[in-house]
Amino acid sequence: PTIYIITPTYARLVQKAELTRLSQTFLHVPQLHWILVEDSPEKTALVGEFLKHSGLTYTHLNVATPRERKLQEGDPSWLKPRGAEQRNEGLRWLRESSRGQQGARPDHGVVYFADDDNTYSVQLFEEMRGTQMVSVWPVGLVGGMRFERPVVEGGRVVRFHTGWRPSRPFPLDMAGFAVSLRLVLANPESRFDGDAPMGFLESSFLQGLVTMEELEPKADMCTKVLVWHTRTEKPKMKREEALQKQGLGSDPAVEV
Ligand code: UGA
Ligand code: MN
Repeated sequence: PTIYIITPTYARLVQKAELTRLSQTFLHVPQLHWILVEDSPEKTALVGEFLKHSGLTYTHLNVATPRERKLQEGDPSWLKPRGAEQRNEGLRWLRESSRGQQGARPDHGVVYFADDDNTYSVQLFEEMRGTQMVSVWPVGLVGGMRFERPVVEGGRVVRFHTGWRPSRPFPLDMAGFAVSLRLVLANPESRFDGDAPMGFLESSFLQGLVTMEELEPKADMCTKVLVWHTRTEKPKMKREEALQKQGLGSDPAVEV
């Protein structure tokens, strides 16, 4: 099966660095189709050129998060969900293109939502490739914990190890599950709710697709961490700004 990876991304100083690291992980994964969705009213040249030279099979999409849903400078990061509209745009493309001749082959696909800043082991993709409905595994360094994970007993998920509101329908990080393309296509209405309260974005999508009992535990019955919810520090530009004032800033023609 092909793995369709939907990644929301947005313009910022570290964007190209994030996309470089991510794409060079993906280059190690056979049968991968990257759906990169820019949070932007237009496709940017930086991302377009980047993809062209990436060596990957990809689809380049864009949709801007509406102003009222977008996190403003200074807002706490948990206030509004990020990437919801972009993931929905990726789902729309998958559903749309699988209708045509050339498109995705429903019996042969797995859909994974990979944020641009996490760290992924190549092994994770082989774990998810056999997904029948929804597969799950641990995520490291997330939710103020060493890891969160589904707890498996007798080969089935019976509850979730999480530090916060374990009563949520699916207390899983976005990085902790994959869905079969067949299930996505069989449920044309399922999508991420951009208005979901903090921590309920994943549940808004998974509710109605699957029950806890049906989840397929991967990564040695959820005992191995193969993905980490890493977050990249925002680079300081103090020196750059000081030099710019003297007309000595770094050459703007050089793409970073
Ligand atoms: C956590 C989860 O891991 C995310 O999957 C979830 O979307 C997010 O919380 C949330 O609450 O919405 P976190 O590290 O806090 O992740 O979020 P980011 O990595 O900053 O953003 C998630 C994705 O959305 C990234 O791929 C990022 O590039 C993208 N994004 C972020 C946008 O497309 N637009 C933005 O304005 C911000
Ligand atoms: Mn992140």
